[in-house]
Amino acid sequence: MPDPQRKRIALLATGGTIAGAQSTTQAGRYTAGRLSADDLIAAVPGLAALADLTCEQVASVGSQNMTHAVWAVLAARTTALLADPDIDGVVITHGTDTLEETAYFLSLTLPWCKPVVLVGAMRPATAMSADGPANLYQAVALAATESAARFGPVVLMNDDIHAAQGVQKMAAAGVAAFASPNSARLGVVAGTRPIWAPQVGPSLEATFGATAAQFDVRQHAPHTWPRVEVIYSHADAQGDAVDEAAARSQGIVLAGVGGGYATDAVMAGLERAVARGVAVVRATRTGSGFVARNIEVDDDAMGFMAAGWLNPAKARILLMMCLLAGQSPQVIQGAFLRA
Ligand code: SIN
Repeated sequence: MPDPQRKRIALLATGGTIAGAQSTTQAGRYTAGRLSADDLIAAVPGLAALADLTCEQVASVGSQNMTHAVWAVLAARTTALLADPDIDGVVITHGTDTLEETAYFLSLTLPWCKPVVLVGAMRPATAMSADGPANLYQAVALAATESAARFGPVVLMNDDIHAAQGVQKMAAAGVAAFASPNSARLGVVAGTRPIWAPQVGPSLEATFGATAAQFDVRQHAPHTWPRVEVIYSHADAQGDAVDEAAARSQGIVLAGVGGGYATDAVMAGLERAVARGVAVVRATRTGSGFVARNIEVDDDAMGFMAAGWLNPAKARILLMMCLLAGQSPQVIQGAFLRA
């Protein structure tokens, strides 16, 4: 007879360093995505005592190779699992390099109704002091905590719980590589229990009503999703890179200096892009901060949108989803300022 108190968690594995393996425990070199979901579970003592787990291998990639096609499968499969009355929460194992992008994509395309936790590791599973097992244990504990659902898909790394909108990989190495630079983490997991940060407490007490997905991508094959490119601004940047991007894209995100700016040559290229119907969003390459409209640039006159709090990688995703939904520039700008 199944224990009605016991949570049933579905684990979707996509690869990454958490599933990475070295030839020896001391080797610096390793291959991401080598171990299966079953291997990962078997390596974590006590996991089976925490919840009933089912697992599926969705992909086995280093997340530098994450694709829209895998995102489409993840969105469809997770949506189906969330609708299953026999599933209480979902854990997605993922490489850390694009973890924040997948988390943000899923936050836009999944209903917020049950906990969804994305988790990775900075050290491969075979490393001397692998961080994956503890991260996975805490991710399952968090997915089994009903109140986590109200934050949409969250990221669990190194004890910390982050919202998908704000989380960022801030360092190339080290287990404390993740932070939420524009806000704060949502909380921490201590043992098996989330401890929510003080600013989060009040929202936990408010009544929680499940919300539908902001964008339903299930009817759109990923090869039909609009192409949005990121242009990185730097000293002496030229406008021809913008023209090339504009010729093959429906949207461009500027990873601009400071408050989302670039050389006059790049700005002129972006104006030419707008004139040919390409949606242009200005974001900042600085790593944090709010990009506002009409400060050093006349966005109204130039037809640009401002990314608000979103970093360039996440701005690309929101712009792609808004364009897929056929939204007008005014509606898209509103979505950025609310994000
Ligand atoms: C990856 O993103 O798949 C490799 C790096 C990592 O997971 O830490």
